[in-house]
Amino acid sequence: MPSERRLKTGRRTTDAIANVAFEDAFVALTDGILICDGHGRILSANPAAFRLLGEDQLPGRLFEELLLVSGAITVQDPQGQSIRRAWFPREDRMGVLEIVSTQLAGAAPRATIHTVRDVTASAELLRLKEEFLLDVAHELRTPIAAMTASLDLVHQDAISMPRQELRAMVGTLRRSALRLEHLVENLLDAGSIEAGTFEVRAMPTSVKGILEDSLVFVRSVFESKGQRLVTHFGRGTDRVVCDPRRTGQVFANLLTNAGKYGTERSEITLRTEIVAGFVRVTIHNDGPAIPPDELNRLFQRFFRSRNVRGEAGGLGLGLTICRAIVRAQGGEIGVDSAPDRGTSVHFTLPKARELAQEAGSA
Ligand SMILES: Nc1ncnc2c1ncn2[C@@H]1O[C@H](COP(=O)(O)OP(=O)(O)OP(=O)(O)O)[C@@H](O)[C@H]1O
Ligand SMILES: [Mg+2]
Repeated sequence: MPSERRLKTGRRTTDAIANVAFEDAFVALTDGILICDGHGRILSANPAAFRLLGEDQLPGRLFEELLLVSGAITVQDPQGQSIRRAWFPREDRMGVLEIVSTQLAGAAPRATIHTVRDVTASAELLRLKEEFLLDVAHELRTPIAAMTASLDLVHQDAISMPRQELRAMVGTLRRSALRLEHLVENLLDAGSIEAGTFEVRAMPTSVKGILEDSLVFVRSVFESKGQRLVTHFGRGTDRVVCDPRRTGQVFANLLTNAGKYGTERSEITLRTEIVAGFVRVTIHNDGPAIPPDELNRLFQRFFRSRNVRGEAGGLGLGLTICRAIVRAQGGEIGVDSAPDRGTSVHFTLPKARELAQEAGSA
């Protein structure tokens, strides 16, 4: 029957194409795939498996022995499949691998397919989120406790209290309220950055004006540590095009960091200069440097360097928000830090006159 023969030949061709596609996929996959025989000996492994497990030789070895070294932990064990997590050395530090092992039905007796995936980033985010909840509670508690203590005193003897003392109490209340406002604003912004609804409204603005407004939030930090802010404004650096409120947040966050992480009675400097058509603002403080291996993670949500953990409070959101604002305005932000030079954070804002010229020449 010629028609039946055609059908069979057609299927054979389709099967052959599918096999080639499977082979290509096996090689191209970014997840590691290992197939083991009934004794757990590796029959075949794709290139990703070699890379993720950091091994030069896999076929012929026992898969479970590879996991023994790193001590895999079972997270789920539904019928016929197990999901485990294990630590493995990566290029720069330890990483987390998720291993899903499935018994192949109908294949050679008890043959198993293992998929290996690098889940370091999501495991880290989960850990940071757990720490974050505790940090939020802690951060809220400090200003609320200060407010309650001041309010109790005012409530007890507001009438007999000397004017000077009353003024100091109100000052504390105001500082605590500002701290809470700043905290809630950062939390809301981090949420809208994550949701992709974060917006900036750029307009011609004065750098000095923005700085002045942001100092309301920062002054108390400097005062509490006896620090002094020294400013150097370069020529022609005042007019920029940016969202004044948002840029004020950048100043407030960066100056608060400089105050928090700088040493007592130190000088904090703010310098502005023109760099390639942008106004570049650099804020510098002394104090413990950020380790080089952490510099590229500072802008990650919830990340806090080991140089400060346990000392000054914070949620690890400030720099994430600063970068979102600066980038949305077309600028860039970066950090330099070295043990004997302290820490400098710099960011750029589009210069107003340049934009006006561009508009005129368009
Ligand atoms: N000026 C600085 N000097 C030294 N370390 C800094 C400086 N700025 C930031 N860091 C380090 O970078 C980390 C992240 O900073 P970021 O401003 O994002 O968070 P935070 O200050 O910890 O908390 P938040 O700003 O949300 O209150 C800090 O925890 C600190 O370890
Ligand atoms: Mg901060």
